[in-house]
Amino acid sequence: MRVIGVIGGGQLARMMIGPAIELGLELRVLAETNDSSARDRATTVGDFRDLDTVLTFARGVDVITFDHEHVPSDIIVALEKAGVAVRPGSAPLAVAQDKIVMRHILEDLGHPLPVWGVAETTADVKGFLDTNGGRIIAKVPRGGYDGKGVAVVTDAAQVADWLHRGPVLMEEMVDFSRELAQLVARRPSGETSVWPAVETTQANGVCAEVILPAPTDDSRIVEVAAELGRQIAKDLNVNGVLAVELFETNDGRLLVNELAMRPHNSGHVTIEGSVTSQFEQHLRAICDMPLGSTKSLHPWAVMVNVFGSMDLGRYSRLTQLSDVKLHNYGKEPRAGRKVGHVTATGTDVTDTMARARAAAEIFHADI
Ligand SMILES: Nc1ncnc2c1ncn2[C@@H]1O[C@H](COP(=O)(O)OP(=O)(O)O)[C@@H](O)[C@H]1O
Ligand SMILES: [Mg+2]
Repeated sequence: MRVIGVIGGGQLARMMIGPAIELGLELRVLAETNDSSARDRATTVGDFRDLDTVLTFARGVDVITFDHEHVPSDIIVALEKAGVAVRPGSAPLAVAQDKIVMRHILEDLGHPLPVWGVAETTADVKGFLDTNGGRIIAKVPRGGYDGKGVAVVTDAAQVADWLHRGPVLMEEMVDFSRELAQLVARRPSGETSVWPAVETTQANGVCAEVILPAPTDDSRIVEVAAELGRQIAKDLNVNGVLAVELFETNDGRLLVNELAMRPHNSGHVTIEGSVTSQFEQHLRAICDMPLGSTKSLHPWAVMVNVFGSMDLGRYSRLTQLSDVKLHNYGKEPRAGRKVGHVTATGTDVTDTMARARAAAEIFHADI
């Protein structure tokens, strides 16, 4: 395995470029547009929904992987039939691509989940509202991300439009004390490795801040999260990085929210925080190379996302802040768009968080 093909040219593909160079791998990207975040390694600009485009891109590539989960399953299956190594493969990806399928499979495997149901009519929504306190979460099963396709619902009429397009996932509104994410990497030989669980904070359904490790007085939570991550990676035969988004409830239980089978926003903090970043580990895993150490390099690492714009002109102001690293995704400014992130490291969590927030604030601009 030497040549990696990444379908999708977003920031995840971009952040694989450095580690690929370090490992001596050649990374090729099938990007959506000429100005995609990973344009520096874009060998093809084209539509990932077009089979010919994808098959042509895959020629001469040893293994295909993904920047996002929106590649249609028939394309992934066609790649496999053509003899291309696809990691993760079509079977695990089918679980990550559809939140209803994900709920069914995770329930069959016995993993702890929020109360859930599937609505086909507004009467189904009304019934679920009545039995779940009149306030629920509705989700479009496919194609959602960053809170798009997720809504708090108190009246069945709110999901009428979604129901016209197909079934809708309904979930109890979980009264979580916080959200965690468990990152795992698994390679075809079965070797599996976990990072310590991280704490994530979402703003309007979008990841905003991540703390490595998740602060806790209860080491049991960390062990349960790690075991859950390992088990799901094995159950689903995942190759590559898997992120398991979790809710921690007030009574100390962990419920699985959703899965992502690729590097994940909650893992950006591993770039500075860990011996092996999620991007390097993903490449090692899909190439079936031995996995790297997931040991933390600092007592704390905190990542804060930057939305909107990230101009080079503001970099100089960052020099006032110690031990802060900047990641610019090379994207055009747009209100609410994830354009980069900052990570601070340190020995005190409050101080590390303050420096990370201050760094992100430097880039804050109303656009
Ligand atoms: N059942 C739920 N109860 C409470 N909050 C939820 C529930 N499901 C999702 N959320 C909130 O919405 C966010 C986005 O939902 P998620 O299913 O992870 O969608 P996305 O694919 O957009 O990440 C979650 O991180 C969490 O903050
Ligand atoms: Mg999510």
